[in-house]
Amino acid sequence: MKHLDIREVLHSEELRGKEAVVCGWVRTYRESSAVAFAELSDGSDFERLQIVVDRAALAVDPECTKPGAAIRVRGEVVKAYKGEGNELNAREIDLLGKCPPEYPIQKKRTTLEFLRGIPHLRLRTNTFAAVFRVRSVAAQAIHRYFHAHGYYYINTPLITASDCEGAGEMFRVTTRPWNAPEKTEEEYYKNDFFGVKAGLSVSGQLEGEVAATALGKIYTFGPSFRAENSNTTRHLAEFWHVEPEIAFAELPDVLEIAEDMLKSVIRSVIEECPAELRFFDQFVEKGLIRKLTSVAESDFAVCPYTEAVERLKRAHADFRFPVEWGCDLQSEHERYLTETVFGKPVFVTDYPKEIKSFYMKQNPDGKTVAAADLLVPGIGEIIGGSEREADYDKLVAAMKERKMDLSAYEQYLALRLFGSVPHGGFGLGFERFVMYCTGMENIRDVTLFPRSVRNIM
Ligand code: 4AD
Ligand code: MG
Repeated sequence: MKHLDIREVLHSEELRGKEAVVCGWVRTYRESSAVAFAELSDGSDFERLQIVVDRAALAVDPECTKPGAAIRVRGEVVKAYKGEGNELNAREIDLLGKCPPEYPIQKKRTTLEFLRGIPHLRLRTNTFAAVFRVRSVAAQAIHRYFHAHGYYYINTPLITASDCEGAGEMFRVTTRPWNAPEKTEEEYYKNDFFGVKAGLSVSGQLEGEVAATALGKIYTFGPSFRAENSNTTRHLAEFWHVEPEIAFAELPDVLEIAEDMLKSVIRSVIEECPAELRFFDQFVEKGLIRKLTSVAESDFAVCPYTEAVERLKRAHADFRFPVEWGCDLQSEHERYLTETVFGKPVFVTDYPKEIKSFYMKQNPDGKTVAAADLLVPGIGEIIGGSEREADYDKLVAAMKERKMDLSAYEQYLALRLFGSVPHGGFGLGFERFVMYCTGMENIRDVTLFPRSVRNIM
């Protein structure tokens, strides 16, 4: 179907005085005796294109005036009567698809919760269309950043036999029936598709290390799966994960890369999505643009875990979970640190080894590991990363302490036998990052079809 994107028609000065064809969905329609105005959206731009109808010259099919109806308009592009952009003086309007009054997206503002019940239609609202344009721009900017800095893009397997995070949160992958006849677990898996217990990967890191210790700098950007039974506004069962892995890098390098990458992507979002950000700033998070601009321009804070715990213990705050050295930080603690103590993104580093994963580099103190979580205001953790343990014996010892099955990690361990190097990386939760850029408070509202406990619409 030959037509132009509304984005182009709205903003192009060269098109003025020329004829153009656009397609889209009617957002509003109002008429007086002489003229009628339709606002048309095709998803390409935050703004809608105003269609002006000279009622004496053009009779419009009433179906073309209904909110949600899909139409095609041929007309002359002219400078808008109000504002900067263009509008279209209609010469011909065709109906592409009519929209009956049951259409659940109506003009009055509906709640996000109501819209969560209609994931197949909610992208036709300003809010959701804006979220997904920002999401796309951010994803492209991430790829651009890594490409420009010499990283190779690697695709790691989604089906795996090894649990990267060791937290037992893997979905199982099986072709066996629920009433399989085997008497033991071992036999059951032996007869399964892969002959061993398999699941959906919680992280591409372990395979990412394989690639980084050959190509130097790599990143993955794909889905990860977590069967966490946590029904929160920050957890999904299926989320998108950005995981760079860098050879010849230590923890400070990892922090530097994470900070530089985030700032660069935020700058791209500010540059490429001005209308979306103005909208979010006005209706979703007051001060969003100021927040993003200042984050892009100032340094992130760094705070070792031990100091973080001291600060939390001194805090005048009513925490639900008490804080002691050795405890995992709860969301309330993370948010207190980043929002109240530092007032900006903060890397918390050097966590107790007991609460972190087996692969993290053990610090000389024997108690902590070279880990770093990035906490941001409003959300808490958006990045988890570390330097990796590059010493074969130390890594094996950490795995034995955790009673892990070493045979499932032979290849991973072998990286420490053949030319082992200091290396590290991190994982960015892409949806959490999109929340941060848009101010949206629920991870379900930045995901097309969110999957979470008891929810697979
Ligand atoms: O902190 P995590 O578990 O770290 C890893 O998986 C490492 N293997 C990453 C690495 O070093 N390559 O997860 C990384 C990030 C978290 O900080 C969070 O932003 C996001 O992934 N994340 C989730 N996002 C949405 N829903 C979930 N259930 C998530 N679990 C983790
Ligand atoms: Mg984490």
